[in-house]
Amino acid sequence: MALGALDTMGLASLERWYREVVASLDDAARIVLVGEDGGEIVAMGQLVSSGATNADHRAEVQRVGVASRARGRGIGRQLMQALEDAAREQQLGLLWLTTHDGTEACAFYEAIGYTKLGVMPDYSRRPDGTLWPGAFYFKVLSA
Ligand SMILES: CC(C)(COP(=O)(O)OP(=O)(O)OC[C@H]1O[C@@H](n2cnc3c(N)ncnc32)[C@H](O)[C@@H]1OP(=O)(O)O)[C@@H](O)C(=O)NCCC(=O)NCCS
Repeated sequence: MALGALDTMGLASLERWYREVVASLDDAARIVLVGEDGGEIVAMGQLVSSGATNADHRAEVQRVGVASRARGRGIGRQLMQALEDAAREQQLGLLWLTTHDGTEACAFYEAIGYTKLGVMPDYSRRPDGTLWPGAFYFKVLSA
């Protein structure tokens, strides 16, 4: 799972990174949702508002992931539904995201109603450090 991380980061820096995310949650620009199964966290997704004065209706979906053992059971779809409900509550009606092009995530986002805008070459690195094209998606939320 990529989630913006590199293999070389190591668990300690990954943990530090997420502790910083959690510590910054009181600024209300970022919403973090997790999905639990049997008392264990198996899914996570984040929503980050644009912060732009002229785009207070727009947010980016980030770090969506379901644990390998829990995939294919509709948890990702439920998580995205919960993120979209949270967005509506905040009057956020336009969501966008990027993911590594050509991966299973593209099929997932297309299955749940996201439209592919296009692909940017060398957008970000895969966990092994290889530069990879990024696929850009958006969804306009119904009221
Ligand atoms: C992509 C991911 C979040 C999907 O989560 P999931 O819980 O397995 O997805 P769901 O079971 O809710 O599937 C929802 C729909 O997406 C589609 N889908 C999900 N995984 C798919 C795959 N590997 N290939 C093709 N379609 C897929 C299915 O068609 C499904 O629709 P259906 O219910 O009509 O069959 C999960 O595989 C994952 O965490 N992958 C690694 C991390 C990642 O790629 N994150 C997103 C990029 S930032």
